[in-house]
Amino acid sequence: MKKIIIANWKCNPIKVKEGEQILLSLKKTINTENKVIICPPSLFLSPFLSLFSDIFSFGGQDCFFEEKGAYTGEISPKMLQDIGCKYVIIGHSERRALFSETDKSINQKISKILNSTKLTPILCIGENREERAKNKTYSILERQITSALNNISIEKAKKIIIAYEPVWAIGTGVYATKEEIKEAKNNIVKILCDIYKKLPPNKIKIIYGGSVDLKNIAFILNKNDADMDGVLVGGVSLKPKDFSLIANWK
Ligand code: PGA
Repeated sequence: MKKIIIANWKCNPIKVKEGEQILLSLKKTINTENKVIICPPSLFLSPFLSLFSDIFSFGGQDCFFEEKGAYTGEISPKMLQDIGCKYVIIGHSERRALFSETDKSINQKISKILNSTKLTPILCIGENREERAKNKTYSILERQITSALNNISIEKAKKIIIAYEPVWAIGTGVYATKEEIKEAKNNIVKILCDIYKKLPPNKIKIIYGGSVDLKNIAFILNKNDADMDGVLVGGVSLKPKDFSLIANWK
């Protein structure tokens, strides 16, 4: 089955030319049915879209919950759509931890995106190390999903991609085991079915993120293992050799 492979470049690289070099290398080596989505710094979106939109889809790493106005520094969902993006990451744990993103603002963003654009939100959720140690993983996922989807209709919710990203696995080289990923996936499905009683199974795509690399990609995506719908890749997405092997996975 076709998988969703997302590159989250975060605040890298410094120069647009360096980014272009990465995409040029990927262009030569990626040959896949999978959906490859590149989320570079927003400044790079415009030049990349004009050069590479025939090969990759593009997404923002965040956006605001208003369309336009006196909001210095913000980028709206409509702006991302207007330049040609199809996706936008919302609620990444770095935004939650470092930039005061709250469950409420995440819900406002998801709502604005779904009500005013055709963009697909990639909603990031996940527990931190302490929460896992205290057996709070389920309640954290439940709170994050329930609040993010507050007042979102089932039709709109079906568009969302949910990225399970345990915070302790992000950028650490430590990744969740097959069993932990499977458990989280089952719990996310249960939480979604509790919210949307008529949601058909597997309707909402659920992907995994957190130290994804060549060592773990197979068990994350294999049908007989965790069988996730895709991956959200941070650090390794800036290494064209490794990322193209991940993107070409089948
Ligand atoms: P990582 O980042 O692959 O470097 O752990 C993943 C993410 O932050 O989405």
